[in-house]
Amino acid sequence: FSDGVDTKETVEYYRGKLGDADPQQFVEILVGHAVLVDPKEDEIEGVWAHVAIHGKWNIWQRKDDRLTLWTAWGEQPVQQINLDADETKIWDAFDSSKRLIELRHHHDNDKIISLVRKLTHSNVQALKMSMMPWSIYAKRPAMAPPYLGSTMPYARWQPGTAVPPAISLSEYHKSSINDADAQFDHQETTLSHLLRVPHPVLANRTYGQALADVILARELVSGRARILEIGAGLGYVARDVMARLREKGITIEYTICELSPTLAKAQRERLGTDATWIDGDVLAAQIPDASFDLIISNEMVGDLPATQHSREDVGLNLDGTGTIDRDKLRALSGGAAIAADLGVNLDDATEPFYLMTGAFELISRISRWLAPGGTAIVTEFGELAMWPKLSTHLDHPELSTHFGQLLQAARGAGLEGKIEFVIDLLDFNRDEKGLVTTRSHFRALRALAEHHGVDLPKIGYTPKLLADTVSGKMDLESVGELRWDRIEDRLMGLVPHEFKALVVKRPA
Ligand SMILES: C[S@@+](CC[C@H](N)C(=O)[O-])C[C@H]1O[C@@H](n2cnc3c(N)ncnc32)[C@H](O)[C@@H]1O
Repeated sequence: FSDGVDTKETVEYYRGKLGDADPQQFVEILVGHAVLVDPKEDEIEGVWAHVAIHGKWNIWQRKDDRLTLWTAWGEQPVQQINLDADETKIWDAFDSSKRLIELRHHHDNDKIISLVRKLTHSNVQALKMSMMPWSIYAKRPAMAPPYLGSTMPYARWQPGTAVPPAISLSEYHKSSINDADAQFDHQETTLSHLLRVPHPVLANRTYGQALADVILARELVSGRARILEIGAGLGYVARDVMARLREKGITIEYTICELSPTLAKAQRERLGTDATWIDGDVLAAQIPDASFDLIISNEMVGDLPATQHSREDVGLNLDGTGTIDRDKLRALSGGAAIAADLGVNLDDATEPFYLMTGAFELISRISRWLAPGGTAIVTEFGELAMWPKLSTHLDHPELSTHFGQLLQAARGAGLEGKIEFVIDLLDFNRDEKGLVTTRSHFRALRALAEHHGVDLPKIGYTPKLLADTVSGKMDLESVGELRWDRIEDRLMGLVPHEFKALVVKRPA
């Protein structure tokens, strides 16, 4: 499109190539948002009619009359953009309500335009240009064009170069994790990772300690406990669960089943001889029946394989009606057969839908591995009745979990139990506030802190935790944009109330 193309010809060319969508509508929307402009139009001249809105995920620091922006999009190198005193004044005048033309008489016009060009560039993304002032959207955020609030941390792609193949759900953990700490600090932060330090939201306990307290309070283990943890990440939960239970006089045999060799190594370094390991895929592990009193699977079922199907593949109608044909379901795969055998109700499947084949296999295995009276705690992000959705905010595909289906599978396998909110299970303090970040936003903040000689580990920052960490080295008053929200709604890049726990017991 860069040199201009004939609109009618292009619309005809793409007709039928975009599914049911009408290419003409794409053109209208893209023109409406000034993404496409008439080649005869002077694009820069057109900018004066726009409202400049600060991006939502900027990191900046103010020193005297100057501002420095820090960016760290995706895997791109960290960069600093220094604004001079005039540019800083213009930046401050970008108030999300005035059109650029209204700033014309107060600031150097060439400087306004060059600053807009610099800050809207995809390398920087500090400024968004809007046809409408933000106040129009303030009460109707759903109406705001997504680009005003979102950012593009993705790797660049040049036309003509090969598109990298999609990574499969299972291959990723086997072959793609090379740096254990970076994995959890940047790529795939879990709630337990953010709360691996004694944390005010958990009454100054770590996630693992809070989980151990639940295990103790509910008397899930006593005397001698055989515990299996599936997918243990960096081993912090294991470390703290073991220590807390041992403190209470419980003798523990702790086994970890871990797919990623890099993470298994990190766990061994952290836990030494305190645990034993079953290396490899939990869905291939040979574990004797009835051999564990407690099984913990924290934030890992979403990593297991799932398959995508059409309703018609399992005998359901596309109009949302019909009853599943269990034979057709069974024929799809081993995991699908388990769903069929355990009586999971799939009639309300979306079109298309993801079948959590790996999760069903896991539940079936867990049900066998639990000793009579044993309990399993399986946490992940997901909802009680929402079909799995693919999240794209990670560097690998991860599905949300349909907990209602997991519970049905567990009951089908003879277990008893329920689904709980992790924030209730671990008794989160509802009044605590936490830092709201994205991966790139936090990476930029971390780079800024490093510049001041502060190491900013990836933990779930409360205002006090952040102030304590940077104390004496970095003045937080000079730093933005730091936003805080109730922790149950947002902590760093996670939404804690989305995390659920399946807590199920094998009857004694
Ligand atoms: C998202 S991490 C969660 C780690 C840890 N439980 C936590 O709360 O931070 C998922 C973990 O499960 C492991 N994992 C993923 N698929 C697995 C599989 N099929 N078998 C065993 N472990 C697996 C990963 O390597 C990783 O340790």
